[in-house]
Amino acid sequence: MPAYRSALLYFSPDDRLVYEADGLLLTAPDERGVQRVTSIGPWSAAAAAGEALEHWPARLIAPGFIDLHVHYPQLDVIASPADGLLPWLETYTFVQEARFGDPAHAQEVAAFFLDELQRHGVTTSLVFCSSHASSVEALMAQARARSLRLIAGKCLMDRHAPDGVRDQTEASLIETEQLIGRWQGVDRLGYAITPRFVPSCSDAQLAGAGELARRHPQVWVQSHVAENHDEIAWVQALHPQARSYLSVYEQFGLLRPRSVYAHCIHLDDADRDLMRSTGAAAAVCPTSNLFLGSGMFDYAASQRANLAYGLASDVGGGTSFSPFQTMLAAYYVGRDGRGKTGLSLSPERLWFDHTAGAARALGLEGVVGNLLPGCEADFVVLNPRCTPLLARKVERAESLAQWLFAMIVLGDDRLIERTVIAGRSSA
Ligand code: GUN
Ligand code: ZN
Repeated sequence: MPAYRSALLYFSPDDRLVYEADGLLLTAPDERGVQRVTSIGPWSAAAAAGEALEHWPARLIAPGFIDLHVHYPQLDVIASPADGLLPWLETYTFVQEARFGDPAHAQEVAAFFLDELQRHGVTTSLVFCSSHASSVEALMAQARARSLRLIAGKCLMDRHAPDGVRDQTEASLIETEQLIGRWQGVDRLGYAITPRFVPSCSDAQLAGAGELARRHPQVWVQSHVAENHDEIAWVQALHPQARSYLSVYEQFGLLRPRSVYAHCIHLDDADRDLMRSTGAAAAVCPTSNLFLGSGMFDYAASQRANLAYGLASDVGGGTSFSPFQTMLAAYYVGRDGRGKTGLSLSPERLWFDHTAGAARALGLEGVVGNLLPGCEADFVVLNPRCTPLLARKVERAESLAQWLFAMIVLGDDRLIERTVIAGRSSA
């Protein structure tokens, strides 16, 4: 069975970061053939005896990262500047997404997208496809071939969108249920019911999505909420009776465990309580929010409200697939503090929010995002001396926190020496 000797980083059951300078990670296949962690702890020659040992000196093994919100059809939208969310959607995003009715295009982009995630050490992601069922097929088939734990769904958008991406209410709901039947629980894959956001979904489509969410409690729900002031004013005009943007999703039965809402910037405390009490989670997208000028996620209020959240790239609004870039942007946003005293999010907390914390937000605690026994063997092998400046910082670091922070600030894909998916090296 594969066994790994290296420095190890993981989280204890009470969410403390654990560092093992010379550790041993043992794995074995479960009854479905998925490689899982069987033990983690200090190096022990006796415990490793008889195992197929891989030794990674001067490297660090850590849980694979989780991207809680990303759009694969927006691969070619990265780095497209606009005057805010709504013009950005009209000018670039819908135009690119319209191309995903072509299965050959979808397959080419899906392969590149998954390569890119793996190169950056992202082993699980919650993904928006386009509104074309064929875009889901392309991504799921390639994710399955790579044994990935990935959750994705066809975008629902039956109004306020151009020809080529706008779907039909009835057909979109039938297709969604067919895709659930085809992909939910197949190997490590999951399906997410995916209403794009309130402005692009009729009441009938939202009601149908809510009905599917009720009938299929194991599947995920993903959408966007409270990202941008113009978007919020639009929702208010479309739903004048609603207490808030978020409450529209509640009205249609779309707030529940396994529902993940991207952005959650302009929420109030009643909204945060509603998310917590319904079991919904937030995907925090700091590079996207800074790039589009959407606003700053309120970490202090979210922590006070005990809101479940994790970090996300939101590519193509987001500017990078790299979890290190996302963690650094999250740190900037925390420091900003929305005009109040900023928080200094610790490197341990940032790392947690992109791994074990994100797994919890997905309802996958103990499955991915950590290396405790029972977790699936998805991890990264980091080379902390991958650039001259990082090597210099690492040599001078006086604490684990300083070392982790150096990787967050200076790190990118060069840090990822290997990405291991279910025990198989993929890079
Ligand atoms: N709101 C509705 N669709 C989108 C999208 O594709 N990206 C972002 N950032 N926000 C959205
Ligand atoms: Zn998004």
